[in-house]
Amino acid sequence: MSADLRTIPTPRVVVDRARLHANIESMQARATRAGVRLRPHAKTHKSPAIARTQIAAGAVGICCAKLGEAEVFADAGIADIRLPYPVNPANAARVQALQDRLRISIIVDSLDAAREWATVMRRSGRRLDVLVKVDVGFHRCGVDPDAPDAVDTMREIAGLDGLGFRGLLSHAGHAYHARSERELQEIAAREAAILHQLAVQLRDISIAVEEVSVGSTPTARFIDEQRGVTEMRPGNYVFFDRTQVGLEAAAIEDCAMSVISTVVSRPAPDRVVLDAGSKTLTSDGVRGFSPASGHGMVFPSLEATQPDASIAIERLSEEHAVASVPADHPLRIGDRVRIVPNHSCVVTNLADELLFVDGLSILERVPVAARGRNS
Ligand SMILES: Cc1ncc(COP(=O)(O)O)c(C=O)c1O
Repeated sequence: MSADLRTIPTPRVVVDRARLHANIESMQARATRAGVRLRPHAKTHKSPAIARTQIAAGAVGICCAKLGEAEVFADAGIADIRLPYPVNPANAARVQALQDRLRISIIVDSLDAAREWATVMRRSGRRLDVLVKVDVGFHRCGVDPDAPDAVDTMREIAGLDGLGFRGLLSHAGHAYHARSERELQEIAAREAAILHQLAVQLRDISIAVEEVSVGSTPTARFIDEQRGVTEMRPGNYVFFDRTQVGLEAAAIEDCAMSVISTVVSRPAPDRVVLDAGSKTLTSDGVRGFSPASGHGMVFPSLEATQPDASIAIERLSEEHAVASVPADHPLRIGDRVRIVPNHSCVVTNLADELLFVDGLSILERVPVAARGRNS
């Protein structure tokens, strides 16, 4: 392919292929070392090509959040998909169609939903693999482990004809609000302890808990310490982003995804306008141990190896990024910059394809086949 990053129309989402592969290999190595199965969350890349690379490296399958994504990965031949999402039983026909093609499992976090799933599955002579989602502190969904009837609820779910109870699953999303390494470590420890205690209680009443699944990129570094866990499901680690750098889950050099953007205006000495707005970078903020603001980490040229903290993207319109710069900053109209976004998963969802690159060279155009498949 002859085009390179100096000439393609911008903004474009690019992925450093060598870094992507290194990130995939190193998370796989971490899982293997810990004796835990890796099942990456594919919401980050939404690309069958990347899922295949993860599986070739040793992943047991993938996760999807939504059935629409799972359908795309099923079409691409992925054989084992878990949806750690409380899929509504109204979608039973789609789940059953997927069951005909691959191994699929979902989560449930209430007896009501579990009963509904069990009924539709029984009626069609099927069984659906489920894990019970446990709320380990994020307070999004999940059974409250401190509720007096938590174990009873799980026992009843496990006993429902029509469901195949696989075990317990959690997502410590509150890790993204941690202010220190220590706090992250405590979140990971507490997550494992909660799941372990529930698993012991269930096993004590002769319920098999085959799987204990945890997953997030910031807590993945503590997997060695998470006793009793059988599976990890990080997603973001394939690309990383500015937030993961802020949470010290990655170094700047590990970030595989960037947005290439052009300076389109310099209306004042201390202001430049770039052509990547919220429709490319998204409006997601940045997280990390130290408070930070702005919309991405800007590298002042395509060749620059370090970000330039003096270029601060302070606001976004849909198609503009407005950055403050020192009045003597050399950026001029037509110059190209590289932006490591605050949150790579949502950037992917806005791009038709990812350009895999090596330096300035474009190696491959990789379709984001499941982009927008959010239902
Ligand atoms: C249920 C679930 N599992 C796993 C993940 C992956 O976590 P991360 O994005 O931190 O890699 C997510 C992310 O949102 C999630 O919601």
